[in-house]
This record gives sequence, C-alpha cells and structure tokens, in this order.
Amino acid sequence: MNNFIYHNPTELVFGKGQIARLPKLIPADKRIMVTFGGGSVKRNGVYDQVVRALEGRDFIEFWGIEANPSVETLRKAIALGKERKVDFLLAVGGGSVIDGTKLIAAGLLYDGDAWEIVLRGRAEKSVPLATVLTISATGSEMNSGAVISRYETKEKYPFSGDYPLFSILDPGVLHSLPKRQIACGLADTFVHVLEQYLTAPGQSRLMDRWAEGILHTVFEIAPEALSDNPDYDVMSEYMLSATLALNDMIRMGVREDWATHMIGHEITALHGLTHGATLAIVINGTLRVLREQKRGKLLQYGERIWGIAGGTEEERIDRTIAANEAFFRSLGLSTRLSEEGIGEETVAEIERRFNAGGWKYGEEGNVDGVMARRILEACL
Ligand code: NZQ
Ligand code: ZN
Repeated sequence: MNNFIYHNPTELVFGKGQIARLPKLIPADKRIMVTFGGGSVKRNGVYDQVVRALEGRDFIEFWGIEANPSVETLRKAIALGKERKVDFLLAVGGGSVIDGTKLIAAGLLYDGDAWEIVLRGRAEKSVPLATVLTISATGSEMNSGAVISRYETKEKYPFSGDYPLFSILDPGVLHSLPKRQIACGLADTFVHVLEQYLTAPGQSRLMDRWAEGILHTVFEIAPEALSDNPDYDVMSEYMLSATLALNDMIRMGVREDWATHMIGHEITALHGLTHGATLAIVINGTLRVLREQKRGKLLQYGERIWGIAGGTEEERIDRTIAANEAFFRSLGLSTRLSEEGIGEETVAEIERRFNAGGWKYGEEGNVDGVMARRILEACL
C-alpha cells in the first residue's frame, strides 16, 4: 500500500427534511451568496425550503450556473461576491453548481482572473462553502475537486479547490430528476469506482472490497432507481453510493487511472455531451485497449461483480468487458461514439490536444495522445 494522508472535513447531513437545519449549520454572522443552476429547484420545492430556512439571514442569490459550468458565468458571480463582500457560499444544485461555487469561493480571494486558478490546477485559499445536493453523480459534495469549462475555447479542466464545510443530502429531492440524469449519475458513480479500482491487483484487499461494495450496490439498485416511482430507500442508496464513490474513501494507498474521465471531459468540451454519458462510452474503449495492463483486475472484476468464472482467462476477460458494456446499455445510455454522431474529427482533435498538452493519464501514466486515439477508436 502506498503512503497517504486522509483528511475529509465535510460534514454529511443526510435524510428527509434536513434542509431545515441550514440556520444551525451556517454561522450567524456570515454574508451568504446562494448559488443555483437553471431553475429545477424552483419547480421541485428545494428553493422554497432553502429560502424558508434562511429567513432573517443576510444572503443574496446568484442564478444561472450551467451544466458544465463556465468560467464566463462564474466571473460574474465572483465580481458580485466581491462587491457585496460575501464570506460564505451555499451551492444548491448538482456537481455543476457545486464545482462552479468552488471556483467562486477561490476567486473571491484571488486578484487575477479565475481561469488562472483552473489552469494552475489548485486554489490556494477559498471562502468557506457548503452544499444542498440535488443530483447525485459527481461526489463534489464531499470532495475538493471541481471541473470548469471555458466555452469560448471549448476547454474543460479540473482543479482542486476546497471541501464543502457541510453537505445536506435529502434523497427526497432526487424524485424530480429526469431518468436520463439518473442514468448518467449512476454511470458516473460506477466509473468513479472503476477509475480507482480497475488498475493493478494486490494493492489493498480493503479498498477492493469497499469499491466492489459500491459497484454491487449501484448495479442492484439501478433498475429500481430508473423505474417510474423509485422507492425512497433505493434513492438513499443511490445518493450515498455516489458520495462514497468519490470522497477519497476508496483510494487510500492505491493507484488511480482517470484516463476515461480526461478523455470524457474533452468530449463534453467539444460536443456538450453529458458527463456520465461520455464515460459510458469511453470506459469500454479503455478496457479493450488496456486489457493486458489491467488483466489481473479485469479477472477479479469479472468474477466478483459479474460472476464470470469458467473458461480461459481470455474468454473471461472478453465476457467481463461485454458485461461491463451491457450494464451501461441497461441504463439506456449509448456505448459507442457513433451513436452520438461523434467520429474521426473529434478523435483527431482529442489526440491533438493530448499531444499539445503533453498529457499522460492512467495508472501507468501511459495514456498519451496515441493511446487516447486508440481508446476512442475502440469505441467508435
Ligand atoms: O440547472 P438546473 O435547472 O438545476 O438543472 C440541472 C441540470 O440541468 C438538473 N437537475 C439537478 N438537480 C435536479 C435537476 N433536475 C430535476 N430535479 C433535480 N433534483 O440536472 C442537470 C445536470 O446537473 P449537473 O449539476 O450538471 O449534473 P452533475 O451532478 O452530473 O454534474 C456534472 C458536472 O460535474 C463535473 C462534470 O464534469 C460536470 O461538469 N464533475 C465533477 C466532479 C467533481 N467535482 O469531483 C467529478 C466528476 O467526474 C465530474 O467531472
Ligand atoms: Zn465523473
């Protein structure tokens, strides 16, 4: 096991009616900016709950953080926040609103342009932030990561900001989600686990079992979560699975991949395809191209998650990769680029970007431009 430091300071406040706890969780003297997306919270009652809870508190609202948040919009929030001397941020939304708010939090204490923080990959300091989560997928509610787009240049990069002080997770708020968003959220959760688990075997039995626990749970609950009237407890499992999949818990002392994500971010930047939908495609290419490197873990994944035991190793790996693709299909998502009208032009552009940036991802650091092309070609 590799050395590591684990320190996740986010307080999780989970369950029905927990939005009402906001006044107890935010210090009384704070000048708050509450950030929102495009308006789903007005339709499902979350906005009303938040405003009721904050009655009598000093707060302003910032609306319009897009899915795949743009630095162009976030600069406006930073300017407003500086003008109003905001010293606490409350993100009410999904990964996009939360990620955008992480950049606002850093931008409020930074004199230059916010995009410089993204390019540097790390925020030095941030105003405290907290979240009311409305869609489960990214784990942003309990991690320090954020992914920001620059629409002008069709770029999308991650940076490391601050952890939320607290996050309120009420599974009841997920009932208004369209099925496609739930499917993308389940896919994102599943691939977060695979990026941390499906590398080399024999690193940590404990991390493996935790990761497999999340994979099993997501696979089991997916049909029910996507049904017309999902049960509260099923949505609770979905919500908690997504948080635990990317809150540093399953990556202690083990190597990580993230090539599928970095290629997926490029597809979103170029085509606007939803994050989870890009992963449901690219992961299949990653497993096909890197099957030798990932051999031991593919065999373990196949046996423990998909019950694939008989036959030669090659047959077992073939069946595992097929079972993996079938799972994403069962969510109703595409698993090939051509189904989304994406072809050679995009493959060439992503290869060019990887080469120009000298990017290398994957647990072996060997997913460069050439390898990114091979992965994309394997899922055309
Ligand atoms: O904007 P509104 O109107 O609120 O609508 C949103 C949005 O259109 C809607 N929505 C959210 N909650 C809802 C709802 N609709 C009905 N009922 C509700 N309860 O859903 C749409 C998608 O929301 P978004 O926040 O974009 O989804 P998600 O949480 O999947 O976030 C995606 C972003 O997070 C990044 C992705 O790249 C993408 O930019 N990621 C962030 C990570 C992190 N911070 O650790 C890691 C991930 O791998 C990922 O890259
Ligand atoms: Zn993701």
